[in-house]
Amino acid sequence: PDIIAVVPAAGIGSRMQSGRPKQYLTIGHATILEHSIASLLAHPAINRVIVALGPDDDYFQQLPLASDSRIETVTGGKQRADSVLAGLAAAGNAAWALVHDAARPCLAAEDLNRLLAICRHSRVGGILAAPVRDTMKRSEPGKDAIAHTVEREALWHALTPQLFPLALLRQCLTRALHEGATVTDEASALEYCGYHPELVAGRSDNIKVTRPEDLALAAFYLTQLNN
Ligand code: CTP
Ligand code: MG
Repeated sequence: PDIIAVVPAAGIGSRMQSGRPKQYLTIGHATILEHSIASLLAHPAINRVIVALGPDDDYFQQLPLASDSRIETVTGGKQRADSVLAGLAAAGNAAWALVHDAARPCLAAEDLNRLLAICRHSRVGGILAAPVRDTMKRSEPGKDAIAHTVEREALWHALTPQLFPLALLRQCLTRALHEGATVTDEASALEYCGYHPELVAGRSDNIKVTRPEDLALAAFYLTQLNN
């Protein structure tokens, strides 16, 4: 296919403090992972999804997804970037790789459409991002006192999905990890290698479920999206 989707789902969800990894918590009629994958497969250009699972994952096999021919699994790694690379290693030679957090169940179809429409015309790809709304302060080094206000117009929250030419993403992630760079999303690996991915404005309700209080928010946003 032209686009392969990779869903890193190998995290343990330590900040969620629940009995199971957060991607396997249920919201409404499905797990968070199922919502996240369904939002990708809803797009006509996406029909293959590689999910990176934790080495001891006991949950995935119990989901109906496990027998969906569009979905395959790989074993993820220690950091998120290792999990994404493991997914890319199984991706073959698709032109584009779309990476989406398992923990982001509230992706709107319109945002995925816009990301694909804009980034497929660029050479380096890009990410969904939400403009920062609050006034932002930088603190003085080492203390909780304001050094100055940071210009908000230039600040964005990085979201997923993130879409890049597959070979370029593989190359940048490999180099960035090898050289010990901090890689918290795919774009940071491209930035490390000197590229400037596109920022595509997306909805701020595309949250990453991270802490217990995020569950109720995600549940609310999901009902809004489905209406
Ligand atoms: N992830 C992954 N492999 C890792 C770490 C994280 O595939 N080694 C995935 C998570 O499953 C999640 C996404 O990357 O879908 C974003 O990471 P995060 O929100 O930090 O999830 P966790 O690492 O599971 O949570 P925490 O940091 O609270 O432990
Ligand atoms: Mg984490």
